[in-house]
Amino acid sequence: MNLRIPGPIPVPEDILEAMSTPMINHRGAEFKDMLFRTTEGLKSVFGTKDSVYILTGSGTGAMETAIVNTLSREDKVLSISIGTFGDRFGEIAKIYGADVVYLKCLPGTAVEANQIRDCLDKHPSIKAVLVTHNETSTGVANDLEEISKVVKKEYENKLLLVDGISSVASLPTYMDLWRCDVISTASQKGWMLPPGLAFVSFSDFAIESYKNSDMPKFYFDIGQYEKYFKMGQPPWTPAVSLMFALDLALEQILKEGIENVYSRHKEIGEFTRDQVRKIGFSILPEEKVASNTVTAVNVPDGYQAGELIAFMKNNYDIVLAAGQGELKEKIIRIGHMGKTTHDDIKPVIEGLSNFIS
Ligand SMILES: Cc1ncc(COP(=O)(O)O)c(C=O)c1O
Repeated sequence: MNLRIPGPIPVPEDILEAMSTPMINHRGAEFKDMLFRTTEGLKSVFGTKDSVYILTGSGTGAMETAIVNTLSREDKVLSISIGTFGDRFGEIAKIYGADVVYLKCLPGTAVEANQIRDCLDKHPSIKAVLVTHNETSTGVANDLEEISKVVKKEYENKLLLVDGISSVASLPTYMDLWRCDVISTASQKGWMLPPGLAFVSFSDFAIESYKNSDMPKFYFDIGQYEKYFKMGQPPWTPAVSLMFALDLALEQILKEGIENVYSRHKEIGEFTRDQVRKIGFSILPEEKVASNTVTAVNVPDGYQAGELIAFMKNNYDIVLAAGQGELKEKIIRIGHMGKTTHDDIKPVIEGLSNFIS
């Protein structure tokens, strides 16, 4: 089967094998070494000298971690949404009692700096900005560097909380350089791992906010993670098998060099979009904001995404994803995170071209 959804992604054989390593004591010396080593590796990939925590959970848990550890009930936050995952970030903040101001962009577009300035000028008491780096539901990458310039340089004391779930370890992301305060990501994307781990980085400013945050938290309380980390332990029983896999995946990513990993994703993203256009399909977003981890392809008029997806599965054993929310039947999404090659994409293109011919 050619699994081409935007996560979970196909996991390399050696990383799968690492998961069958016999269990070890998660409060013993061997685990301690692995926890310290993987945390350092994660910091390199995030581009940070600040704190990174490893959670057992999915990306949504890491988004929740960002919110409950930095915010208090009634805090005003700006939720920028360019798709369903952006909506989710705002929803989590709302459920925990934040006063959410919404900035919702049209599906297939990225947020623009002026839209953010308008909101921040209109609501000076906004304490945090929530934004999706790469919106997996529409195949759009926001310009995080530009967003950060607005939020962190033009205004003072605002937290920048980033959903980097389908971007970190695939698209250029520089936590310290871009002054992001929290970035959340999850293992089933560019990390080349199965689902089950999530990683979340906190700047010193975010840690300061933690001290005053009154939102309820227990499992995702980063104070617990920090306290136990000092002893070389996780606070709760971790997904030990996934930790073995993470250890190997990080070794491979760092050996290749993170900039090379970014270049590889750029190349396969451009190749995919180019091939899709060559066979007469169109891409949902404009080229300048198109994501290099997932391609959102418009379903030709007169067809439904479900039909196309069934055709690809039944005839080629290729698994693609439909759209989400209002785009459910209107687009299909092709994932190309991790070690995706031209040979993984070519059969997808062949199948798509046979669908319309
Ligand atoms: C951008 C983005 N945010 C959030 C999520 C939610 O992550 P999870 O399904 O791991 O909870 C995803 C998952 O696809 C995502 O791509």
